[in-house]
Amino acid sequence: MSLGTKSKIIDSINKLKKEKNAVILAHCYQNIEIDEVADFVGDSLYLSRQAAQTGADIIVFAGVYFMAETAKILSPSKKVLLPRKEAGCLMADMINAREMKNFKEDHPDACVVCYVNSEAQIKAESDVCCTSSNAVKIVKSLPEQEIIFVPDRGLGAYIASQVPEKKITSYYGFCPTHMRILPAEIDRLKARYKNAQVLVHPECHMEVIKKADFVGSTSGIMNKVKQSHAQSFIIATERGVLERLQRDYPEKEFILASEKAICENMKWNRLEDILISLEKEVHEVLVEEETRKKAYMAIKKMLDLS
Ligand code: 13P
Ligand code: SF4
Repeated sequence: MSLGTKSKIIDSINKLKKEKNAVILAHCYQNIEIDEVADFVGDSLYLSRQAAQTGADIIVFAGVYFMAETAKILSPSKKVLLPRKEAGCLMADMINAREMKNFKEDHPDACVVCYVNSEAQIKAESDVCCTSSNAVKIVKSLPEQEIIFVPDRGLGAYIASQVPEKKITSYYGFCPTHMRILPAEIDRLKARYKNAQVLVHPECHMEVIKKADFVGSTSGIMNKVKQSHAQSFIIATERGVLERLQRDYPEKEFILASEKAICENMKWNRLEDILISLEKEVHEVLVEEETRKKAYMAIKKMLDLS
């Protein structure tokens, strides 16, 4: 796209945002060009909070389906738009309502904690929700000793390592993007970049997490860089975080832990899609009211506890 075309699209988006009282929320795995029109860029927890408190009439969610759905659960009177309807989450798709029912029946006395990376019907069947930035805090704060965690076995294993006093059983879901980051690759990069800090997202393999200097959500990783005096960082999460760090800290060195750490679903949205979404008010995300109310309770409990 030429610079002239790009700036015309950005101008049109900004004009429509004003006319329609719309806000654009963008996850930090999005194509970096989206930041030029976004009102808020961050991790899942930060964006959920923005969705809950916005005074806008329209929320355009530059992210994946479960994020836009979470915004709709929190702000049912707003029109929530997902620019590209293909943008799903492979991990969220790994559990459906029937599988959730069976998992709960196998653990009748357990408290059910669900990762925000799940569909509304899964949240509706959970006691409390969490994101990667507050999962450990939420699980620690629950009075129950027995927990079942859905759908991510990666984050579930990390929580179990941090809260050893509780019995935590995870569902078998996983994030394909983070699972492509391998421990041998971290070893190879650490040998080459001897002074680099290793910053890891908790959706990674436990063997990768064990090699980390810091474990945190996408915003957690970005904040860690901001506070650190180190010059060099190995980034074990999706490429979008690395690109934003390179933009914001050009004097520092960032190495992606795997060239394969790209979430294809997060990359659907382009500036053109945001413009069409605002113009035509597509694709609207709706949640059936009974399900929404139940899912809201799980998300609200998370926001109160974190
Ligand atoms: P956070 O935004 O909580 O770091 O989660 C990353 C992720 O995989 C979102 O899909
Ligand atoms: Fe889902 Fe993983 Fe992509 Fe996040 S990075 S949206 S968990 S597939």
